[in-house]
Amino acid sequence: MNLYGTSAITDKGHLSVGGIDTVQLSEKYGTALYVYDVAMIREKAKAFRKAFEQEEVNYQVAYASKAFSCIAMIQLAEEEGLSLDVVSGGELYTALKAGFPVDRIHFHGNNKSEAEIQMALDAEIGCFVVDNFYELSLLEQLAEEKNVTANVLLRITPGIEAHTHDYILTGQEDSKFGFDLQSGQVEQAISRATEMRAIHLLGLHCHIGSQIFETNGFVMAIEKIYRYLKSYGYEPEVLNLGGGFGIRYTEADEPIPVGQYVEAMINAVRTQVGNDMTMPEIWIEPGRSLVGEAGMTLYTVGSHKKVPELRHYLAVDGGMTDNLRPALYQAKYEATIANRMNEPKDQLYSVAGKCCESGDMLIWDCTLQRAIAGDTMAVFSTGAYGYSMANNYNRLPRPAVVFVENGEANLVVRRESYEDLIRHDLPLKHAIISK
Ligand code: LLP
Repeated sequence: MNLYGTSAITDKGHLSVGGIDTVQLSEKYGTALYVYDVAMIREKAKAFRKAFEQEEVNYQVAYASKAFSCIAMIQLAEEEGLSLDVVSGGELYTALKAGFPVDRIHFHGNNKSEAEIQMALDAEIGCFVVDNFYELSLLEQLAEEKNVTANVLLRITPGIEAHTHDYILTGQEDSKFGFDLQSGQVEQAISRATEMRAIHLLGLHCHIGSQIFETNGFVMAIEKIYRYLKSYGYEPEVLNLGGGFGIRYTEADEPIPVGQYVEAMINAVRTQVGNDMTMPEIWIEPGRSLVGEAGMTLYTVGSHKKVPELRHYLAVDGGMTDNLRPALYQAKYEATIANRMNEPKDQLYSVAGKCCESGDMLIWDCTLQRAIAGDTMAVFSTGAYGYSMANNYNRLPRPAVVFVENGEANLVVRRESYEDLIRHDLPLKHAIISK
């Protein structure tokens, strides 16, 4: 197994990350625990930005904070010169509390509430990615009332299917997201938005899917979008091509360097623009590819169950509460026993979570070192959509999050306590509506 980022093996045969022994981390902060290799996130951010700098186009790389949002992560995105994609009042609130530069915040979502739009207008965010006609009118009305102009990208569904898992396809025509290109909705939205006084139409946005390993889908989307744009005679100032760049969850995944996506996108846009049109700013929105591989989850091994001739279950102190992806998408992961890195991986196990649900399995059939209760297990590549989709099923408190870099560990999200779990509960008498 290839280790990720700064991960290494210590003299004691333990897994380390960011120069820190993961066994020590699990002792100090408890398990389950999310650990992020900060240097790796920085490296990914730099790789995206470098690819654009080399191409000499105006650009923004917006971190899709749905992949993992907390104050420290948003501040790290800021330090790395990224912009920010938020999809809810909650993500926006986190960004504002983190002090993120408002002009680099882009607000997504297919059903932004009036309160969320008001909040974003009051904060003077950089841009709204408008999803539908209802939102366009509402935004116009609210911006007019406040006597401000809202910058807008129109989210379009170009009808290009990226090769990925069905559940996470968002770019196909039959999608809840965006204006449909084929049916003429995009043309209509462009002409309406251009006429609106309180709206400044910056351009278009599309996101063709997630965990994409080749550049063709992006190129096809660009070609198709420009075919239509030329027929309308509309030139966008900004073209946002979304996220979806693939990462390695297991050895079967073979991601390509991020620069290749950027290069292919820019070349395709350049070809389309030719000499007649102006090159737009190119924006992208990576989430998973910035934080996915940089995160690992540490667990403590607990019970074993052997079903003779069939399966050897190894249970850990977390599961679908801290990583919903295996249960939701049949997502695959790799793991190791972090305190036995020099021992042979010769045992076939299936890793079970601790929730009351048969589907709460983190990994089916993986070979690991022989493990006993009390060992530390590390599951790799859990940095995207792990913490952000964590939940309190079975009233399990959500884990802590630790950032590690250059031999230093930084607690960035505290572990929930039992007290946190009942913080919003009210006793029965309050539930009775009095006459
Ligand atoms: N931009 C837009 C408009 C998106 O809808 C998404 C993801 C992204 C950017 C970032 O995509 P990424 O680079 O992270 O692939 N919960 C699922 C993923 C849902 C993705 C939703 N949109 C998962 O765990 O795989």
